Order: sequence, then structure tokens, then C-alpha cells
Amino acid sequence: MPSRVMGVASKPGEKCVLQIRCSTESDRTAIRSVHASAFGPGQAREIVALVDALLEDQTARPLLSLIAESGRELTGHILFTAVEIQPDQNVSARILAPLAVSSDCQGEGVGGALIKAGLEQLAESGVDLVFVLGHPGYYPRFGFQPAGVLGFEAPYPIPPEHAEAWMVQPLKAGVIGRIEGTVQCSDALSQPQHWRE
Ligand SMILES: CC(C)(COP(=O)(O)OP(=O)(O)OC[C@H]1O[C@@H](n2cnc3c(N)ncnc32)[C@H](O)[C@@H]1OP(=O)(O)O)[C@@H](O)C(=O)NCCC(=O)NCCS
Repeated sequence: MPSRVMGVASKPGEKCVLQIRCSTESDRTAIRSVHASAFGPGQAREIVALVDALLEDQTARPLLSLIAESGRELTGHILFTAVEIQPDQNVSARILAPLAVSSDCQGEGVGGALIKAGLEQLAESGVDLVFVLGHPGYYPRFGFQPAGVLGFEAPYPIPPEHAEAWMVQPLKAGVIGRIEGTVQCSDALSQPQHWRE
């Protein structure tokens, strides 16, 4: 993927340039730091281990790993990995997980820019559906909608009070309603600890 450069307001009246590109192996340490900063001490170890596992997991491929850079500083990272829909469906689908923005750069549009760049790239690659388990106050602004009522079960049951956190976005017309089933993630993301509250 070619680098994408976009202007993002970092503070009122101030502009910084945000560059989004595919990550490389040499970004790995900085990617770990971004996740540790974003998720904090309580979750850092688990999320950093998940990112490392996903980047090595053959069952997660094809994957899309994008970073956001402001100057020389890596400020955000997003990962989309392959999922299947069971029983076997002829569909190309991904799941967004995880997404992190350094704690001192949050609320400046970095997360949104990574989501939009990722969805655009996946649509260009012919992907049909993208899933996410995340904040129902955040992801709908990027086009995600509750997935359960559309016939897509998560790999593990989602308690009814969190049903809206399990979301999907079609990247092609005519996919919703034609396809339904249970989403099966990569080996790394199928571990039950990633699906509890
Ligand atoms: C969630 C996260 C990725 C958002 O990235 P960001 O760059 O801070 O977000 P953006 O600048 O694109 O968007 C800011 C908006 O998102 C909202 N937002 C941020 N975190 C949110 C959350 N957890 N729930 C609901 N809304 C949230 C903000 O309130 C703000 O809303 P506004 O535009 O109406 O003021 C980032 O805050 C983060 O890394 N958080 C910790 C890790 C995490 O929770 N990752 C997501 C796992 S699903």
C-alpha cells in the first residue's frame, strides 16, 4: 500500500501531518509501545502478546497492518485479519482488532484516520465484510452496525447487554441478507480471553 498523507488537527487551530502506511518488521517495537500506552498496565501485556501472535499467525492472513506516524513518532496502529464464516461461505471477510492510539495522541482523529484508510484499502482489495467487537459509541460513525441482528454470530456468545458491541460493515452491496453464519477467527484471535468482557 502506498503511504497516505492526510492533515489532522492536533490542537485547535494547529495542523500536524499524519502519514498512514503499512507496517514493516522494523516497526514492531514501536507498535508494541503504542498498544502498551493505549491500553494501559491492566491490559498491555495481553494486547501486546495478541498483536505479536497475530502478526506471526498464518491463519490470520491475509492481514492488513497499518501505522499512523506524525513526524518520526508512531502514534497509532490498526490490524485487520482474516476470518471465515461458517458453514463455509464464499465470502472475503476480515476483523478489525486491535486498534490503538498512544495515550497522548488520543482524540486527535488518528484512530478514525486509521479505520478509514484500512476500510478503503480492504474495499479496493475486494473484501466483502469487516467485523469488529468494540465500542458501540465509536465504530458506527465509520459505518459499522450491529452484526447479530443481521445473522452473524461471534466466535463466542456475546451477552445480550453487549450485543451492540459486535458489529459488521459491508464493503459491497448485496452481501447483507445473502450471507449469514458464525464468524471464525484466526488461531490467535480465537483464544477465549479475547472475547470476554
Ligand atoms: C479508541 C481509540 C482507538 C480511538 O482513537 P482516537 O484517535 O482517540 O479517536 P478519534 O480521535 O478518531 O475519535 C475521537 C472520538 O472517539 C470517541 N471515543 C474514543 N474512545 C471511545 C470509546 N472508548 N468509546 C466511545 N467513544 C470513544 C471520543 O469521545 C471522540 O468523540 P467525539 O469526536 O464525538 O468527540 C483510542 O482512544 C484508543 O487507543 N483507546 C485505547 C485502546 C482502545 O480502547 N482501543 C479500541 C479497542 S475496540
